[in-house]
Amino acid sequence: MRLAVISDIHGNRLALEAVEADIAHVGVDATLNLGDLLSGPLDPLGTLELLQARDYPTIMGNHDRWLVERPPDAMDTVDRFVANQLDAGQREWLRALPATRVIDGDIFLCHGTPTSDTIPWLDNWWRGRDTTLPDEAAVSLVAEGLDHPVLLCGHTHISRMVRLRDGRLIVNPGAVGLQINHGSPDARYAIIERRAGVWAASLRAVPYDCAGAARQASDHDFEYWGEALTTGWAGPGELFR
Ligand SMILES: [Fe+2]
Repeated sequence: MRLAVISDIHGNRLALEAVEADIAHVGVDATLNLGDLLSGPLDPLGTLELLQARDYPTIMGNHDRWLVERPPDAMDTVDRFVANQLDAGQREWLRALPATRVIDGDIFLCHGTPTSDTIPWLDNWWRGRDTTLPDEAAVSLVAEGLDHPVLLCGHTHISRMVRLRDGRLIVNPGAVGLQINHGSPDARYAIIERRAGVWAASLRAVPYDCAGAARQASDHDFEYWGEALTTGWAGPGELFR
């Protein structure tokens, strides 16, 4: 079985379309989506329309949750930009997304960690530019009691894969729509594959029309997203304010 894993699209339909084309080129049985679907000043409704048509197995990210939980005046400017465009039906579609999910018994999906959509698992993300892997004890502790050979997480936008000593695989596919601290604007996702009973992961980076995405941000008066979208060097703190 071969599956694509996408996460953190953040309203970037151009990046999503490029990733979907790459997934079609690779050929998969299904695509799994780890959340943070719409929160970017790019094309949230176009992204939502595409995702609703695809109907990928999907979980809720922290930004998806904030869009339906927070009053607009408690949102960051990016979430407020998106929330103002959503109708009641679209809000309900977001609200119905589960926080975690298990696919075929083998694959566990969460956004941050199994118990939090805001805590990073495979990265010390958000401490300035420190995008290092936490130590083994910290990573393993989060996986305790999860009896699935593949554990998927997103949220940090940093693509990484870890194989625990017991063979379980933890994969963060990185972000489709917003590269931070990665030094490349290319859209990230992962392919996971089970061959002869063993799961393996490969992390992919797909060039796309990032200048077009930056133009969308600029058209919506979020010029400061342009540098991140076209270079991949910006830190997260500079983008959601
Ligand atoms: Fe997130």
